This record gives sequence, structure tokens and C-alpha cells, in this order.
Amino acid sequence: MDLDLNGKVALVTGAARGIGRSIACALHDSGASVAFLDIDETLAEAAAAELDSPRAMGIAADVVDLDQVNNAVQAIADRWHSPDILVNNAGFPSDGFLTRIDVEDWRRVVDVILIGAFNCVRATIPAMHERNWGRVINISSRSHLGNPGQTNYSAAKAGLNGFTRALSLESGRFGVTVNAVAPGFIETEGMLALENYDVLKQRSIEKSPLNRVGQPEEIADAVLFLASNSAGYISGEVLHVTGGRYS
Ligand SMILES: NC(=O)c1ccc[n+]([C@@H]2O[C@H](COP(=O)([O-])OP(=O)(O)OC[C@H]3O[C@@H](n4cnc5c(N)ncnc54)[C@H](O)[C@@H]3O)[C@@H](O)[C@H]2O)c1
Repeated sequence: MDLDLNGKVALVTGAARGIGRSIACALHDSGASVAFLDIDETLAEAAAAELDSPRAMGIAADVVDLDQVNNAVQAIADRWHSPDILVNNAGFPSDGFLTRIDVEDWRRVVDVILIGAFNCVRATIPAMHERNWGRVINISSRSHLGNPGQTNYSAAKAGLNGFTRALSLESGRFGVTVNAVAPGFIETEGMLALENYDVLKQRSIEKSPLNRVGQPEEIADAVLFLASNSAGYISGEVLHVTGGRYS
């Protein structure tokens, strides 16, 4: 198994905390230079600084804003080179039944997940094509199968899976693989902040064949594999890391 990422540059969005931070650390530990991009500049810089490494940088951008994303990618290219590996991780739920949810809450979830992924790919994939090597890994969710109260989040994650498949078909001839990882319930700061965290966690444990929830490092391991040379013949896949839970 070849997980060595020496010489590669990775961009991870939503990397200030949670799953994104674990992914960024795992890619760094395998030798990549990693940009921790987040809308929260202070937290992004702190997360990168914790590694105390010349191969880690924090960078601020809202993935929904293409100009901000382009500027961030330029800053990464100026320091190392344009990313070889992009992990579209930024995203969050904002739940509510369709008849009651505020339109802006509905739209924001879809925009961050879908427009965010589009912007980051748009800003990075031309250089991957030129180099004839690249990895795009989109963080989807088990919720792409549908969850009550999550028409926005489920639609966005199902959309991200379609985006993954279509982009994989466009990019294969340039040596770029495009895959998605669909986590189940993972203990992160974002989940802990939910009002009904304990109820959701208990339900998830009961529905999980493995009888437990997951940890951010377990998603990072799957992403690291897909980013590596060992996964060079895998593209257009949605890898579920859910402890065997699908419903
Ligand atoms: N935790 C879970 O159980 C779980 C399950 C399935 C899928 N996911 C997905 O994994 C990803 C990470 O989830 P998490 O639980 O680690 O979340 P989290 O809330 O702990 O962290 C998300 C990070 O994204 C950043 N972010 C939010 N909006 C942004 C924007 N517009 N631009 C740039 N950065 C932005 C936040 O500041 C935060 O640092 C999300 O896409 C989420 O949908 C999580």
C-alpha cells in the first residue's frame, strides 16, 4: 500500500475543526503540504499552527465566494504549487421540515455544499489536468439517502454524489480521480453543538450494526486512501463510512 504523499499539495475546506481538520492532519502526516481552509480565519490558522510545520498553512475563505476561493488557491500556489488534492469538506446541516424551514436556511446549506464544491473544483482542477494527476474527494453523507427534516441537506449531499460521478467522467482522461466519502454519525464539534445531540447519537448507535458512532480519524483514513496512489484506479465512487448503517 502506497500512502506516501510527499511532494503533493492538498487543500481541505472546512478544515478548522472536526472531520476536515482530521483529514488535513492525516494528509500532512503522509507527507503532503496542506492548506487548512475555513471561513473562520482564526480557527483555521490555529489548526494549522498546531502542527508547527512548514507544510501546514491556515487560510481564510468562504467557499461560496469564487473570488475568495481563487485568491486562496493563488496564495497556496505562491507558497507551494496549485493543489494536487482537493477535499471538499465544508458543509453543515440546518434542519427543519419543508413546510416550516426558512428559505434562506434551505438555500445556505445547498449553496455551501454544492456551489462551494463547484467553486473549489473550478479553481483547482485546471492545474491538475495540466499535471495529469489529481484527486478530488467530496465529503458527502449517509443523509444522501434521505432524512426527515433534511430536505436541504439530503438534496445537497445527493447532488454532491451526482457531481462526483459526472466530474469523474470529465476528468479521468486527465489522470484525475473524483470520489466521495459518505460518513455516518461522526463525533465532531458541529454535531456536539446540535440541540438534540444525545437523541441523535443514541438513535445512531441503535441503528448501527457496529453499535457505536464514528470518529473523525476514521473518515480521514478513508480520504487518505482515496488521495493516495494506491487508489489510482478508483473513480466515481461513493464510499460509505457509516459503521454499516444505511437507514
Ligand atoms: N459529523 C457528522 O456526523 C457528519 C456526517 C456526515 C457528513 N458530514 C459532513 O462532513 C463535513 C464536516 O462535518 P463536521 O461535523 O466536521 O462539521 P463541523 O461543523 O465540525 O466543521 C465544519 C467546518 O466547516 C467550516 N465552514 C462552514 N461553512 C464554510 C464556508 N462557507 N466556507 C468555508 N468553511 C466553512 C466551519 O467553520 C467548520 O470549521 C460536512 O460536509 C458534513 O456535512 C458530517
